Amino acid sequence: MKGAAAKMSNETATATEQPKSAVNFDVKDEDLPEFRDMKFEDINELHLDHPGANDPVYRKRRDYIASLAKKFRETGEITDVEYNDEEQNIWRIVANRLEEIHTRRASKFYLQAKKDLGISNDRIPQLSEMNRRLKELSNFRLAPIEGLVETRGFLSWLSYRTMLSTQYIRHHSRPEYTPEPDIVHESIGHIPMFTNRNFADFSQFIGHGACVATDEELEELGKLYWFTVEFGLIEEDGEIKAYGAGLLSSYGELENAFTDNVERRPFDLKQVINTAYDYSKMQPLLYVIPSYEFLKDETRRYIESF
Ligand SMILES: [Fe+2]
Repeated sequence: MKGAAAKMSNETATATEQPKSAVNFDVKDEDLPEFRDMKFEDINELHLDHPGANDPVYRKRRDYIASLAKKFRETGEITDVEYNDEEQNIWRIVANRLEEIHTRRASKFYLQAKKDLGISNDRIPQLSEMNRRLKELSNFRLAPIEGLVETRGFLSWLSYRTMLSTQYIRHHSRPEYTPEPDIVHESIGHIPMFTNRNFADFSQFIGHGACVATDEELEELGKLYWFTVEFGLIEEDGEIKAYGAGLLSSYGELENAFTDNVERRPFDLKQVINTAYDYSKMQPLLYVIPSYEFLKDETRRYIESF
């Protein structure tokens, strides 16, 4: 491995030494830092308010699936999870219910992308299969991770067109809710959007930014990520649609986004990076982009100013 890889060993997983403005978006396998160098600190364990926190069977299962992500960092190979009937059942409940809302509320690009990736309501998709398709479609990649990691580490991997993704699934007692990312949030919320070249490039720009950002700039990037990747809306053919993962993977948030409870403002980057949010509440304010290309161009200009 070259360049950044050597520099990364024994440090955190932050991908340093990235150019701020890459003209060449093609990241080749040999340009990737070794995954074993992803030495994240403070990977979040199960929160006490997680619905599965007091269920020892669930905790054991989650720990096992998390251990596969740790193994990935030694081997670089994604291990498929043999999801059990209970897990498949949670998937079917959530996927079917979300799909009904998606047909009315999701970005048309997203709806097509989900099909292109072969994500169905019948079974939980494997990261390995989505990873193969993503590479073909937009040269983006998935890397398993066992929990929430710190912002700079997480975002800076986007500069290598790599998204860190969990594999375990939420607790069966509350199929509609999870306080942490899970395979539903990743594969129904995030992963389809990375098949969009403009969105993938925009994500990579956020990654470049995270590599060189001051702490203050990193906080701004976090807000940009929140109001786009997680809670973004887009105007398509005169209608407002959702493309953010936090919306697309939550029936409550998705329905709420289109009610009078929410102010939907045209996207203004300066404003977005100065807007505070509360992750524990329904979002009262969302921003609407005119196109994915616009988002990419605005973001590039912004991180070039760092
Ligand atoms: Fe997310």
